[in-house]
Amino acid sequence: MLLVPYVPTPYSVVVKMLEIAGVGPDDVLYDLGCGDGRIPIVAVREFGVSRAYCVEIRSDLIETAKRNARQQGVYDKIVFINDDLFKVSVKDATVITLFLLTSVNDRLAPKLEDELDDYARVISHEFKISQWREVLYATIHDDKVSHDIYFYIKKYSTQY
Ligand SMILES: C[S@@+](CC[C@H](N)C(=O)[O-])C[C@H]1O[C@@H](n2cnc3c(N)ncnc32)[C@H](O)[C@@H]1O
Repeated sequence: MLLVPYVPTPYSVVVKMLEIAGVGPDDVLYDLGCGDGRIPIVAVREFGVSRAYCVEIRSDLIETAKRNARQQGVYDKIVFINDDLFKVSVKDATVITLFLLTSVNDRLAPKLEDELDDYARVISHEFKISQWREVLYATIHDDKVSHDIYFYIKKYSTQY
């Protein structure tokens, strides 16, 4: 089911989110609702993550994401999954990126609590996970528009 409309995260905000999450070569990143693939693409191309997953329910957007990844030379490092994010296992994720809605994040929280390792990081653009406590909150300004960023580490954000 389509839960959220497509609105892309601006490039500068993508970079800031990945910096805040401390993304690097040892990470396996999932963008749940990946749109045109920009977050997995930047994560691989500029932060060197070893594997990224682009999970997107809209088939037109997953095709766009594949095309963009090919153009940027990172197609082989990204797994494209055209499915409902609630049906995709994230057990091997070390970083999850989200730009959904708080209502969707709140439905997703029990799945993340169940599947993620203790030190997995979750970074959400604009919308919090209400039952978790963020370890860092940031406001980023892009072209005079401000963006809220919520950063979580499962162990510290769920047991307090
Ligand atoms: C606000 S956009 C964010 C896109 C991208 N993550 C970004 O930050 O640029 C949310 C995306 O989630 C996708 N989406 C909505 N419901 C979904 C679902 N149930 N499973 C997977 N993707 C979904 C939408 O099609 C859309 O591309």
